[in-house]
Amino acid sequence: MLKGRHLIEVNDFNLQELDEILTFAEKIVENPAKYAELGKGKLMATLFYEPSTRTKFSFESAMMRLGGQVIGFSDPKASSTSKGESLADTTQTIACYSDLIVMRHPKEGAPKWASKYSDVPIVNAGDGGHQHPTQTLTDLLTIRSLKGRLNKLTVGICGDLKFGRTTHSLVKTLSRYEDINFVFISPEELKIPKYIKDGLSKDAYKETDSLDGIMPELDILYMTRIQKERFFNEEDYLRLKGYYILDNEKMELAKSDMIVMHPLPRVNEIATEVDKDPRAVYFAQAKYGMYVRMALIAKLLGLEE
Ligand code: NCD
Repeated sequence: MLKGRHLIEVNDFNLQELDEILTFAEKIVENPAKYAELGKGKLMATLFYEPSTRTKFSFESAMMRLGGQVIGFSDPKASSTSKGESLADTTQTIACYSDLIVMRHPKEGAPKWASKYSDVPIVNAGDGGHQHPTQTLTDLLTIRSLKGRLNKLTVGICGDLKFGRTTHSLVKTLSRYEDINFVFISPEELKIPKYIKDGLSKDAYKETDSLDGIMPELDILYMTRIQKERFFNEEDYLRLKGYYILDNEKMELAKSDMIVMHPLPRVNEIATEVDKDPRAVYFAQAKYGMYVRMALIAKLLGLEE
């Protein structure tokens, strides 16, 4: 039963519940118009303490496409946070007005903390360098729709695996499916955290810093940007930001049915020439993100199909 639940990290939901959300999302993809009134009379609040384009707009468009309405802020300076209000008080107040709260926060654990003060579901829309569960739902729907399965896959994850919260959520979740082999492709300084690797069996992953060397093996290449805002000094960022650049030449090394994913925003890690390659699916992925959020909102609010 998903009604009334919080979503702080993907592992809050079991595989059957994830399947329920994905299956509903697939139905919405087939016929979005059928669900245009499902959320009528419901109100979602988006509390964004950190910048966002896709996550905020896809949540808002998801709610509106369900016929619901949206309130919120995208700049905490414009809220009572600037007067010194605590997160707990802001949350309790907004929970009085809305049916669902979507929160992004620079501090790891903030949405979890907030969920203790909320009578309505809280959805974590990204907490610092920690987790980003709805990006992972987006990624799962994309993979299931375009590869036809969530098992038996070799998944290369490339870029800033240290600070990239989307990669942490994705690995933790995909590892719950069968026969998933990960290849973590990163510079030495940006390797995936130990706590994520500790959750995997030793033969389920390998680590490399060579993208070219591994390309031919991959079913999925998940590119990420270097997370500038989480670096302690500019110099390190500048040194690492051009480390991987996927271009058409590199794409020639890949399988003909490999897909390239990216949570976006892209900075320079995928050359725009790659966008025309049919294997580049990152904009389709953004669209799946809206549909899966429609399904998630409907399930958390207990809206009947
Ligand atoms: C990601 C994020 O915010 O973590 N963006 C997103 O929500 N699609 C990825 C990123 O910022 O690099």
